[in-house]
Amino acid sequence: MTVTTTVAHANEELREDHRRLHALVDRLRAEGDTGALAAVLEQLHAALTAHFNAEEKPGGLYDALGVCVPEFRRELSGLVDDHYRIAAAVRDMRDRARHALGSAHDSLLGEAAQLAQLLAEHEKREHAMVDAAIGRGA
Ligand SMILES: [Fe+2]
Ligand SMILES: [Fe+2]
Repeated sequence: MTVTTTVAHANEELREDHRRLHALVDRLRAEGDTGALAAVLEQLHAALTAHFNAEEKPGGLYDALGVCVPEFRRELSGLVDDHYRIAAAVRDMRDRARHALGSAHDSLLGEAAQLAQLLAEHEKREHAMVDAAIGRGA
C-alpha cells in the first residue's frame, strides 16, 4: 500500500472511529448514576487507547502524515502528547467514578463536558492535517 492510499484509507477509519468515540462521550453525559458512569468510562478508555494506538503505530495515520508532509511532524508530536493527557484524564475519571460517593457525580459530569471539548479540538486538528495532506495529493 502506498503512502497515498494509507492516508485516504486511514481517513475513512479515522472518521468512523471518531463517530464511535463521540457516541460514548455523549453517553457519559447522559448517565444518571456514578456506577453507570464508571462503566461507560471503562469502555471509553478502552476505545480511546485502541484508537490512539492505531493512529501512532508504524504505518498508521501519523506515520503516513509525517512522511507526506514532513513539516507536520512537530504538530504530530503535540497530538501524541494529547493522547497521553486524554487517556490519563479518562483513566483518572474512571477510577474516581468506581470509588466515588454520589457527590462526585456532578464534578465528573463537568469533567466529561471538558473532555468532549478537548477531544473535539484534537480531532479537528487531525482532520485539518488529513485534508491538507490529501489536498497536496497524498
Ligand atoms: Fe488522535
Ligand atoms: Fe483521532
